[in-house]
Parts: sequence; C-alpha cells; structure tokens
Amino acid sequence: MTDIKLKKLKAPLKGEIVPPPDKSISHRAAIFAALAKGKSTIKNYLLAGDTISTLNAVEMLGAGIKGIAKPKKIPGFGTYYEDFTINGKGLFGLREPRDVIDCGNSGTTMRLLSGLLSGNGFFSVLTGDDSLKSRPMRRVIEPLSKMGALISAREGDRYPPIAIKGGGLKGIRYQMPVASAQVKSALILAGLYAKGKTEILEPAPSRDHTERMLSSMGAGIKVKGNHISVKAGKDLSPMDITVPGDFSSAAFFIVAALVVPGSEILIKNVGVNEKRTGLLQVLERMGAQVEFLNMRTVSGEPVADIHVRSVPYLKPAEVGREEIPLLIDEVPVLCIAMAVASGESVIRGAEELRVKESDRIAAMAYGLKMMGIKVKEYPGGLSIKGGALKGARVKSFGDHRIAMALSIAALAAQGKSVIENADAVNISYPEFYSALRGL
Ligand code: S3P
Repeated sequence: MTDIKLKKLKAPLKGEIVPPPDKSISHRAAIFAALAKGKSTIKNYLLAGDTISTLNAVEMLGAGIKGIAKPKKIPGFGTYYEDFTINGKGLFGLREPRDVIDCGNSGTTMRLLSGLLSGNGFFSVLTGDDSLKSRPMRRVIEPLSKMGALISAREGDRYPPIAIKGGGLKGIRYQMPVASAQVKSALILAGLYAKGKTEILEPAPSRDHTERMLSSMGAGIKVKGNHISVKAGKDLSPMDITVPGDFSSAAFFIVAALVVPGSEILIKNVGVNEKRTGLLQVLERMGAQVEFLNMRTVSGEPVADIHVRSVPYLKPAEVGREEIPLLIDEVPVLCIAMAVASGESVIRGAEELRVKESDRIAAMAYGLKMMGIKVKEYPGGLSIKGGALKGARVKSFGDHRIAMALSIAALAAQGKSVIENADAVNISYPEFYSALRGL
C-alpha cells in the first residue's frame, strides 16, 4: 500500500494527454469475443486490475488469447498484451472452469459473467476481493433465477461468492428496479441463451456499450428507448475492435484543468458516448468551457479530443436522480469541482454510489471535510459548500476513483496532502500519477 504526497500546484497544467483505454468497453470486448464464432482482434485493451480480471476469467472459460504487439508489465499483475486476438468458441463452446473465477475488485466482471454463466449448463463460482465481496448481487441473482438459472450467493443471495449451475433459461419481461448497465448487460447476455424473448426495462438510460457491441456482432437485440428485447438463436460474428480512451479517466483531468488556475489541456482520443458524458452537462451549468474537437466514430462508438481550459470561477450546481446514471463514475471528481465553486451545490438520487468499490458518498464527504470544505451527507447524496481547499492526509478507502478525485483536490489545496493507499489507481488507471506529472 503506497501513500502519495502532493502539494498545491504553483504552475498551471498545460499540454496533451491520452487517457487509458475504456474500462467498460474493454470488459465487453473480451467477454463478447469469447462468445463469437472465430477469431476477434482487440486493440488498445485496458491493462489495469479490473480488465485483467476479465482476461483471466475469459481464459479460464477456454477462449485462447494471443498477444499481437505491445506487451506491458503491469505492477502486481504480470505481463499482458494491449493488442491481442481472442479465439472465440461460440455461444455454447465455453468450458467449465476448473477453479473459482476471481473477479478481483471488478463488479462489471462479476455481474456480466453471472449473466453469461447462467446460460451455460456447467458449474462455476465467482468470487472477488473484500470490496467486491460486500457489493450487492441480488440485483442479478433475482432476475437470473426467474429466467431459470440455479444461482445463489452468500447471506441469502446478497453477496459473493456466487455459485451458478446454468442452462435451460427462458425469457422474461423484467422491470429493473435500479438503473444499472451491469445488471442490464447480465440480462442481455442471459437472453442470448433463453427460450423466447427476454425484455428488459430500464428505469433510466445507462451506458449502452453492450447493446452497441452485441448488435454489431449480429445478436438479436432491439432497443427502443428504455426497452430492450433480446432473442436467442443467432451466432455472434467475431469483431475487429479498437478500444477508445476512457471518458471516466479523462474526467479527472477535465476537472483538474478547471480547478488549477490558468490551465489548458487537450485530452486526446476519448470515448464521448452521450450515456457517459453527463458530467459535461453539469460542468457547463457551472460555467466551464469544454470543447469536442475532431469528432469521429471508432468501432461503433463516438470519439473526440477534448479541449478544456480553466475559467475564473465555477458556479454551484444541482444534480438530480435522472442525471446520475450518465455520470455515475464521475461523481467523486465532480465533488472536487463543486468544492471550489462559489456557493452550495447539491447531488441527489445517488444512493447507488454507496455500493460502489467503496461508499463513495461517505468517502467524498469525509475527504472534503478533511480538506476544509463544509459538506452535508444525505442517504442519497451530499451538499457541498464551495470554499478554500486545504491540504490534508486523506484515505482513499482502497477505491481508485476516490484516490484520483482527492489527488486532483490536492493540486488545488493550500499546502501539502497525502493520499493513503493511492495504488488503488491500478484498478483503472495505472499511469495516473505519471500522466499528472507529465502535465
Ligand atoms: C459499469 C457500469 C456502472 C459503473 C461501473 C461500470 C459497466 O455500474 O459504475 O464502473 O461497465 O457496465 P452500474 O451499472 O452498477 O451502475
């Protein structure tokens, strides 16, 4: 466990960076390629803790992975390739894993695999680290059981490990109680194996990378607003995909440029799917100027270079429930922008943040209070009174996004700060601190 020392920046942030590949898209590329009939090529795959968990899982299920170029040593994980091929086995060609599949810290790996493994007639067990073992799994277990999977988990189906004996699924119509792309994706994957139609109704739109990618592979998926229907029976074609940069990682630098006076940066090759970029709508209301340059489409996803420069001051903002799924992973860093705004900001309807890698509402309320900001915590959100950040020793709670958000706060805070257990960043962005130093 490594602590990081940071101090207030005297000079502005200037220059260009390329964020790491998108985490959500990387997970999906590896898992879906394993289900295709034939060889897929994946380029610019994220090599970080979470997506390495997915690669290991896919290998345990029998899909062969072969590196093409750019082997990288990832501290604590081993050597992996950023560009590789996956020899897909077809929907019914996966093999029973010989051991428990360790999903590490990754909720996406566990929930997506729960859906996939529910469709397969063999036995499998999914586990994870201490954080993942305290995250709610009934949200996938309940609908997957309704579809016919034999699936159960610890403490009355609440927490991992999850044991699955899949097969014999039937389609259901399911109204999701919480907006969650992970749950939606698990049910879509199960739907690829189910007899009859699987219908999923989302309470609010969430990221749609699964729908996009599986449709491009030829799956029988129809999307109409918040209604998704899936029909089994179609083989998936292999794909050639280049993963775009991760907006959720870019978000730390967008806010950094806003809170460090005089900054101007260009963040290149960022995925800007509108179901991911809700942060920008809020920052715009706060008075920020963020521009998309060089808009293009890469592997079915919109991509741009993002230009951002600091503004004299930020206005406070209110964020409501309907916006939360569109900025779910950006709330920690949004709190930092709110901490320097001229007035009181409020975030509501964000209960889901309490069940992420850490309780992110509590973690941010604690971190900001330690750094001298007035914060009130509510069950579903927090209010933040903008003020002067001061340096402090703060905990990351082992959560990558908390470590990065508080690091950005430290750059704007008077004096010195220490972020404890900052190597949590390895989960999604191993090069975060070197990228920051580069600017
Ligand atoms: C993700 C969906 C979100 C997000 C997570 C990645 C995904 O979780 O917080 O980091 O890749 O589907 P929920 O779907 O549980 O909100």
